[in-house]
Amino acid sequence: MYMKTIAIALQKGGTGKTVLSVSLAAALARQVPGRVLLVDCDPQGNSTEWTHPDELRAELATVLLGKCALRDAVAEAEFSGLCVLPTAGLDGELKVWDEGAGTRRPFAMWEIVKGAAAMGFKFCVLDLSPGFGAIERAALVSADEVITPIMPDPFGISGLEIFTQNLLGLRKDLDTEKSAYRRIIIKAVDNRIKQHGEIVAGMRDKAGEFRLYVFPVDQVFRRAETEHKSIYDTGTAKKETLDELNRLATEAGEG
Ligand SMILES: Nc1ncnc2c1ncn2[C@@H]1O[C@H](COP(=O)(O)OP(=O)(O)OP(=O)(O)O)[C@@H](O)[C@H]1O
Ligand SMILES: [Mg+2]
Repeated sequence: MYMKTIAIALQKGGTGKTVLSVSLAAALARQVPGRVLLVDCDPQGNSTEWTHPDELRAELATVLLGKCALRDAVAEAEFSGLCVLPTAGLDGELKVWDEGAGTRRPFAMWEIVKGAAAMGFKFCVLDLSPGFGAIERAALVSADEVITPIMPDPFGISGLEIFTQNLLGLRKDLDTEKSAYRRIIIKAVDNRIKQHGEIVAGMRDKAGEFRLYVFPVDQVFRRAETEHKSIYDTGTAKKETLDELNRLATEAGEG
């Protein structure tokens, strides 16, 4: 059965990767309830904290270390028909895997993704940390597509250049065509700030074959995070936020 894996990545902190991962997974789960798996690939465990599965029996690292079957580690999120393969923040083992066994297993995430497809999931969304270690590389080479979120500032643009170089290097090293890259998200755009408008216009000019999705500043993300809800469930999201998220879920969901 075909399943699409989408990695959300950028080697830069705090650009909205977790916000985008959880929100895109929630949007896809509205299309196919119960058949979207959000995988928390970040040792910080932020998307796990947000989606708040009731019981952490095991985590991503437990499966990677071969100590538990994928099926036994998948948990239900607190909302929206979403399933989560969690990562425990403080006491989690993902960092240990990343610096040890993971360095010798570049295709380890591929096993997880295949297992998720066999379980009947239609989509796998991978939330990555800003690092570029074993877990991030393994996640990128297991993904059909990668999407990068940036903030509307000059550092955002240079972050994209670094990301592209890293991705091309990784594809070459591992001789893979995985992780098609054609969508960029610009987060938290405030139309009252002149520079934001200029950056969005500049990006649109240079987008070429890239699809751009522009999200406004919206407090709904912080609220949803603290209340362990999806942005649909808070009832306070801006219309532009929901419209853009739905467009992204439809287009990225198609292929
Ligand atoms: N459109 C938006 N409007 C307002 N705030 C936003 C928006 N998008 C993201 N944020 C805020 O930006 C902060 C960082 O977002 P997030 O945690 O998703 O970044 P990240 O890239 O996952 O960070 P890290 O690199 O640490 O994993 C959060 O507090 C989030 O609520
Ligand atoms: Mg994050």
